[in-house]
Amino acid sequence: MSSIYPSYFARFYDLIYSNIRSDIDTDYFLKKIREANGPVLEAGVGTGRFFTEALKQGADIYGIDISPAMLDILKLKIDRKYHNRLTIQDISDFSFRRKFKLILAPFRVFMHITEPREQLATLNHVYDNLGKGGLFIFDLFIPDPELLAKGMNEVVDFEGEYASGETLRRITSSHSDLINQITDVTFRFEWTEKSRNFKETWNTRLRFCFRFELEYLLMKSKFNQFQIFGDYLENPLTPTSKDFVVVCRK
Ligand SMILES: C[S@@+](CC[C@H](N)C(=O)[O-])C[C@H]1O[C@@H](n2cnc3c(N)ncnc32)[C@H](O)[C@@H]1O
Repeated sequence: MSSIYPSYFARFYDLIYSNIRSDIDTDYFLKKIREANGPVLEAGVGTGRFFTEALKQGADIYGIDISPAMLDILKLKIDRKYHNRLTIQDISDFSFRRKFKLILAPFRVFMHITEPREQLATLNHVYDNLGKGGLFIFDLFIPDPELLAKGMNEVVDFEGEYASGETLRRITSSHSDLINQITDVTFRFEWTEKSRNFKETWNTRLRFCFRFELEYLLMKSKFNQFQIFGDYLENPLTPTSKDFVVVCRK
């Protein structure tokens, strides 16, 4: 199992997630970047769902990611003069000469960290790289008990053309290990290219957390101010919330 995203995942990422994700979180993260009023680091920047627009809006933003294929896609979208703002680094041990006003890890980046010690070390490392008063914002999905118990059988979550006459289908399934709090996700990609058919399968694992576990983890970290919201409008958690949106202040 790997957290390094393969090239075909990166290639089709924007097409798939602009459909199923961008309406949910884009306004929130772009607003936070604008309000930071100083250097921003996006950890797990991926193909730059927020990064490209933030640059256009004049943000002093940097990006790190462990997946070269994701950064390659992002680099195609921005002027070369900004490429040195992007580096292959891990959220748990990145290094910069500056301190940040805001560090964000949008769309479940933190869930790729599966070991409790590493989760804590990551929170503390992020803390050390913030200036005083700086914010760390990240999100996780809220575990759905039914999905955890039953798993998710293969679901086609994208089907369509990715270029004229060329088709893509993505089939996703998951099952969860309740004792280790790990969800194994399998993504199968099937696409056509110049009359040939391609198929690839990638597995990754995500560490899910429950509400109070997350609170205890944060309490154990160097952050002593944090809030956990239930959506990207910063509404309180409710029994129907889908995402933990965590805002920590140094
Ligand atoms: C679901 S994508 C989110 C990308 C982007 N933030 C977005 O919202 O579209 C998760 C990203 O986190 C990156 N990632 C996973 N583990 C990481 C780690 N330990 N350090 C830095 N990046 C990581 C992956 O390579 C991937 O690009």
